[in-house]
Amino acid sequence: MTIGVFDSGSGGRNILEVLEWSFPEFDFVYISDTKNLPYGLKSAELIRELVSKAVKPLVEKCSVVIIACNTATTAAIEHLRAEFPSTKFIGLEPMLKPAARLTQTGAICVCATPATLRSRNYSQLKHKYTRELKVIEPDCADWAGLIERGETDKINLETLREIIRVSSCDVLVLGCTHYHVLKTRLQKLLPKIKILEPSDAIVEQLKNLL
Ligand code: DGL
Repeated sequence: MTIGVFDSGSGGRNILEVLEWSFPEFDFVYISDTKNLPYGLKSAELIRELVSKAVKPLVEKCSVVIIACNTATTAAIEHLRAEFPSTKFIGLEPMLKPAARLTQTGAICVCATPATLRSRNYSQLKHKYTRELKVIEPDCADWAGLIERGETDKINLETLREIIRVSSCDVLVLGCTHYHVLKTRLQKLLPKIKILEPSDAIVEQLKNLL
């Protein structure tokens, strides 16, 4: 069985790695849309158009496609399901539900792209799970571009640490697959903070689906 994995750029490769390790019996095909990234600075309409074009080669080959991109999922997953009804799509959304369960201070920090934070899906998630909580959304607008260019050292994590300290957040949600590469650095910088990213959840979802 061949499973498709899509992201705007290299972020989804972090998910791909975990999937390949967890499902050695399957073949994975990875497609990205690097000429149009970052998606996170684009409108929902444009993201939908780009994703629907970019996933076509995967849909032709694979019955299951993982949208390893929060930005593409929040903007386009319903449209993809409607446009390609015979393909099963698994998407990624910022992990607000587990964050709400884990926080003890009642304050969480969500790092995601501007398009994800603006999306209707994300607002609905927030309304459903974090209505009683303080949700801090720091400006990460240039992170995906910097990560894509290998310039992660230009991301000012000290500012993020200060934001988290001042607002008493005890959970940090990485709501963009590009940001997973920062996890080790972040965990060192914020040893008491729980950092959530969805790799394990995607493995579980794929297991359940199959
Ligand atoms: N990796 C994508 C995500 O998970 C975003 C990167 C981009 O802005 O293109 O949201």
